[in-house]
Amino acid sequence: MITTSAVGFGFQGGKKRGEKAVLLAEEQTRTEINDTRISISIRKSIETQDASTAALRAKYGIEKYDLHPGYIFPESVRNLIPKGTPEYVDEGQNYVKRIVRALYHFKQCALIGPSGTGKTHIVYLVAELCGLPIWEINCGLQTSAYDLFGRYIGLGKENWIDGQIVMWCRQGGLLYLDEANMMKQDIATRLNPVLDTRGHIVLTEKDNEIVKRHQYGYLVIAMNPFSAEFVGTKPLNAALRRRMAVWINFDYLSVGDKISPNEVKLIQKRSGLDKETAEKIVRAGAELRRLYKNGDLPYGPSPGDLINWATLIVDGVPPLEAADETIVGTTSDDVEIQEMVRRVIRSAFGVH
Ligand SMILES: Nc1ncnc2c1ncn2[C@@H]1O[C@H](COP(=O)(O)OP(=O)(O)OP(=O)(O)O)[C@@H](O)[C@H]1O
Ligand SMILES: [Mg+2]
Repeated sequence: MITTSAVGFGFQGGKKRGEKAVLLAEEQTRTEINDTRISISIRKSIETQDASTAALRAKYGIEKYDLHPGYIFPESVRNLIPKGTPEYVDEGQNYVKRIVRALYHFKQCALIGPSGTGKTHIVYLVAELCGLPIWEINCGLQTSAYDLFGRYIGLGKENWIDGQIVMWCRQGGLLYLDEANMMKQDIATRLNPVLDTRGHIVLTEKDNEIVKRHQYGYLVIAMNPFSAEFVGTKPLNAALRRRMAVWINFDYLSVGDKISPNEVKLIQKRSGLDKETAEKIVRAGAELRRLYKNGDLPYGPSPGDLINWATLIVDGVPPLEAADETIVGTTSDDVEIQEMVRRVIRSAFGVH
């Protein structure tokens, strides 16, 4: 029966359909076959993904770090593994490799750097290259302990729903805590045991259930450096700081007079802009970042902002107009500051 059905997927004609038992058997077989097809196609897509990610893993020099050897994440969380993350460009700092290496040895690390230096981008890329589902929490938002740890819904104690951090503990993957230095103290305190050798969370709200950190549960925290411009940033909680073995500093590819040819290439590749104009854009961006780091501007443009600017130019908008619609507004809505940004742009484009 199974053999016959397995050969002819369609179950068409020629079969006895009189007896209920036979029908049931056929139905069961059909399900089994469908399951087999599903699992074959999942395996196929994992294999295809493997081929392209293997090439990328080699490019970023992370082949030797397998973050979940022999383990396939269950289907329920596989859709949390990012796909199609754009490449990450650096000037030989090997950021991707340093993060993956830190995760491999210590299971967690911290990224620190000004806004727009690509911290979020790189965490998604690492998750994709390492095949890890990502759980992202922005600590600057008013996320409640309920959202993070869980809660009962309705009356009584039947319906408990896990929060994000508990889901990560149970299912593994990469927990990404963005703006970690804006985390509320009570939450930071509750996280401490899961980040050290104890490796578990105590759910006080659920009869003190102890949830062990998944064998392949990794953590990256990211933050802007503590300074006056980053409204709301605080020095990172000391207990959390001690639990991070590796700290990786991020900076812009181009700042002031230092112009990164890789950033110029990145802008060209992502927008289709010619080299000469891309260089001018990066020059303007680098100067704006210098002013920002000096405390003279409230924001320095990211490569993403420069790509937006370039995209409009490629669409036919004159460069200064395109800047007005993109990075001038992104920097500030204060007219004086906007005028300062325009001056920098005019000078980079040789217009006075
Ligand atoms: N080195 C890089 N290579 C490629 N793209 C980059 C790089 N750095 C930044 N980008 C791009 O610049 C934009 C801003 O990056 P991202 O949001 O990751 O910065 P961030 O450091 O997380 O900023 P914030 O601190 O404000 O959260 C994104 O579009 C990102 O893709
Ligand atoms: Mg970010």
